[in-house]
This record gives sequence, C-alpha cells and structure tokens, in this order.
Amino acid sequence: MDYQSRREYKVLYSLVTILGILNIILALIWTCSYLGGFGWQDDPLHQFNYHIVFAASGLVLYGKGLLIYRTLHYKTKSTLKLYHTITMLIVFVLSVLSLKCVFDSHNYRIRPIPNLYSLHSWIGLGTVILFATQIFLGFIFFLYPRSNASYKRLYLRYHQFFGVIIFILAVISCHSGIMEKVKAAVGKDYQTLPPAALVPNFLGVAITIFAILVLYLVLTPQFKRIPLPEEDKISFEMRNNA
Ligand code: HEM
Repeated sequence: MDYQSRREYKVLYSLVTILGILNIILALIWTCSYLGGFGWQDDPLHQFNYHIVFAASGLVLYGKGLLIYRTLHYKTKSTLKLYHTITMLIVFVLSVLSLKCVFDSHNYRIRPIPNLYSLHSWIGLGTVILFATQIFLGFIFFLYPRSNASYKRLYLRYHQFFGVIIFILAVISCHSGIMEKVKAAVGKDYQTLPPAALVPNFLGVAITIFAILVLYLVLTPQFKRIPLPEEDKISFEMRNNA
C-alpha cells in the first residue's frame, strides 16, 4: 500500500472506530434511558434490551474483524489469522447471547409471545446461521493443517464474498429490528418524533455510515495487505516444491 493510501486508510479507519463507539453508546442510551434498562429471565421485558446492545456491539466488532488484515498489515499472516478468528468467535458468542435474550424475552412472559413470526426474525436468524457456517468452514479450510492448498485458495473467494454478505445482512437485521422496536415502544407517537424515537433513528443513521465506511475500506483493492517479504519467500518455495 502506498503512503497516500495508508494515510487515507488511517483517517477512515479512525472514523470507523468513532462511529462504532457511537453505535454502542446510542444503543446503551436507548435501552437504559428509554426502554427501562436490563433484566434477566425473571424480568423478560427488560431482558430483551440485551438483544439490542449485544447485536449492536457484535456488528461493530464484526466490521472491525473484517478489516483486521488491512489494519494490522505489518503483523505476520499467522498472527492475523489468530486475531481474525478470536474476533469472529467473540462476535459469534455475542450473537448467540443476543438470540438467547430475545427468545427468553418471548418465552418467559406470563403470556408468551410467539417466536420467529417477523421478517426481522427470519433475516436475523438466517444471518446467524450463515455466520455459524462461515466459522465452521473457516476452521475446516484454514485452520485444519491437512486441508488441500488448492481447495483453500478456491474457498478463500467464497469466504471473502460471504464475509461481506453476512455483514450486509447484519446491518439489514439491525435496521429492521430498530424499526420493529421503535414502533412497538412509541406506537403512533412516532410521527411526533419524541426522544424515544429520535435516539434509535440516530442509531440507524450511525450504523448506516459505519457500514458504508467499513465496506469502502474492505472492498477497495488499494488497501489490500501486501504479504511480508518472508511470507513471499515461503509461498515461492512452497510453489517450487509442489
Ligand atoms: C439494534 C438492533 C436490533 C433491534 C432493535 C432488534 C429488535 C428486535 C425485536 C423488536 C424483536 C422481537 C420481534 C420479532 O420477533 O421480530 C427481535 C427479534 C429477533 N431478532 Fe432482533 N433486533 C436487532 C438486531 C438483530 C440482529 C443483528 C439479529 C441477527 C443477526 C437479530 C435477530 C433476531 C431474531 C432471530 C429474532 C426472533 C426471536 C424470536 O422470534 O423469539 N436481531 N429483534
């Protein structure tokens, strides 16, 4: 990456970080100040609020996880692989917890709410299933020592493509979830834009700008990590010995 691109990347990545922090702060303000804070299974109405905070934090961490190879380009490939895997595993734990909280919040009500009826819930569950598949296949192809090099190269393209698709699906899930919750929480008052609706509206806008920046950084070829000199040497020797 040339000097100019590196500077551009650093500026935009700082914006990604600021917007990511803003997303989490807005999710916390919304849930703590306007949705009544947090509870567990004996208070299912407020257990739901973890769903929002875990989902927003998971999205932020996922975006950063997508960019790890470009951001920490000077680290060795194996270190980056480890950081990328750990980040995605944390995101997976957050998404599972987020789902547990929303299912509990439906099932533990005195009068339980049906599960998986909304478009939001279908897209959301589909996203988590795709993400789990992506992690499973990533382990098989990239971390299992005996997997074939040409299959690895072929799968890498699918891994990169679905990595971006899952991110977009998670953004869509957040948007549809925000709409669903605002409508349920403020009802017809939404038209008068009270603070209880303004905060989630801003959350949706912040998530959108965050997502646009992450996608720009992850899809621009100029920002791609260049292999370290010693990695080039290793792959040259591997090709010659094959
Ligand atoms: C700020 C972000 C989010 C908000 C405000 C939100 C809001 C909601 C609301 C109001 C419900 C209950 C109504 C329904 O079933 O549709 C719900 C359920 C659900 N959400 Fe979200 N959501 C968010 C993010 C996500 C994300 C990122 C995912 C997954 C990638 C997700 C997956 C689900 C699933 C699977 C359900 C169904 C649970 C059930 O049927 O018991 N949500 N969400």
